[in-house]
Amino acid sequence: MELDIWLEDQLVARSRERDRGRKLTIVYDESVVAAVGDEVPLLSCSLPTPGPSTPSHARSFLEGLLPEGRALETMAANMRNVRLQEGAPATPADAVSLLAQYGRECAGAVVIVPSGTEYQPRQGDYRPLDQEDLSEILRDLPEHPLGANLDRGIRMSLAGAQPKFLLARFDNKWFEPLGGAASTHILKPTTRWPYSAENEALVMHFARAAGLTAWSTWVERIDGTSVLAVERYDRRVEGERVVRTHQEDLCQALGIRPLNKYQIGRPSTLMARLLRRFAEVPAEAVTKLFGQVAFRTVVGDEDGHGKNYSLLLNNGKVEFAPLYDSICTLAYPELSGRMAAPIGNQSSLAKVDRTALIEEAVAMGILKSEANSILEKLAADIRASISSLDASFASGWPSESVTDIITSRLDRLESGEPMNGSVKGSPTSRPGRATDMTTQTANPEGQTAL
Ligand SMILES: Nc1ncnc2c1ncn2[C@@H]1O[C@H](COP(=O)(O)OP(=O)(O)OP(=O)(O)O)[C@@H](O)[C@H]1O
Ligand SMILES: [Mg+2]
Repeated sequence: MELDIWLEDQLVARSRERDRGRKLTIVYDESVVAAVGDEVPLLSCSLPTPGPSTPSHARSFLEGLLPEGRALETMAANMRNVRLQEGAPATPADAVSLLAQYGRECAGAVVIVPSGTEYQPRQGDYRPLDQEDLSEILRDLPEHPLGANLDRGIRMSLAGAQPKFLLARFDNKWFEPLGGAASTHILKPTTRWPYSAENEALVMHFARAAGLTAWSTWVERIDGTSVLAVERYDRRVEGERVVRTHQEDLCQALGIRPLNKYQIGRPSTLMARLLRRFAEVPAEAVTKLFGQVAFRTVVGDEDGHGKNYSLLLNNGKVEFAPLYDSICTLAYPELSGRMAAPIGNQSSLAKVDRTALIEEAVAMGILKSEANSILEKLAADIRASISSLDASFASGWPSESVTDIITSRLDRLESGEPMNGSVKGSPTSRPGRATDMTTQTANPEGQTAL
């Protein structure tokens, strides 16, 4: 099977199978290449025009659009002839089959349809939802991850291991996107980690205060469950229309499969090198990366893997995307405290300190004095936000479990001590947040785009 890959209104590329589905390439449309030229990262930094792409990059890019963990297992089980291996599509052809069914609404501006299918851009509709409808979608998530439903023509795909669903919000009301209509928000119910929605909303409030995102995040109550509502930075509402902005995550950009997202390495290596090569303003992009890395370190978020950093791509112009998916994982002592991306010579959230952060910044090419100013501003912004916190952020859950950790880490950032507040024991003896997922193993084809 082949896929037509659209960016919003424009058919830009096609996937091609070789070796009976064992190899996959992506080739750009000739008229698109004639308009933009060669070596332009339209879909991805790992997929420059004109193609055909490196097969492992095409596979990583397409797999990178799919959910992970249980959601992927359920979506695969809903289809005949799709096989998973190590929790990921067993062959490139399996990823193609999944996206042919689910790829109408994805991350960024990607819209995927099976080649030869009639597709009208901007098609679809929105169904208004009342509280009972929302409860039903929530209760139905185990059978219909993301709120996707092939029988009802709701075909959506979004990365991540945690449960979530996609809705649109107009005039402060929720709508279900039907028939390929774009969503505007991601809704993430509380997971097995207590108060995860409240925790993430609070941490993302600090991220806003620190200028790392301008998009809102808040907690909704649905059917007695706290659900985090996340405004999508890759969508904007223009009149009656939702416009998609393209984005990709750093694993897609580097040609790394989702199951290897914890092998992203130090931020100063693959990620910073990619930004230096592709970003429109490299110094700005690298500084943003450092700001996000430092933020996760300070708030005690171990989960900064390669799919939790993204790029915005606008007709081949590359920028670093705002911060998303940050939570104080240190509030859950049963988690490992091992950072997905080591900082300086430290991989433990307990042991990392100011020196390691500065070392990482310098390795990214940031001046030591600038790195110090970034950390000082970050600390001041978060402290100011904690001290002026609205009571709504603290109601109904022990928010001090998070603010105390962050305050003590800020103190230690400033004094230069290791940042540990309360975690004890060996950081490697406990599982990471991805324990719901299948074990990670090395990608045999695993070369990156750099
Ligand atoms: N605010 C946002 N705007 C646009 N896209 C977003 C936003 N937040 C997340 N995304 C996209 O959705 C994907 C899934 O979201 P998120 O990372 O929050 O899920 P998750 O299941 O918690 O992930 P993980 O597997 O890292 O725990 C991200 O990888 C990113 O591509
Ligand atoms: Mg994530």
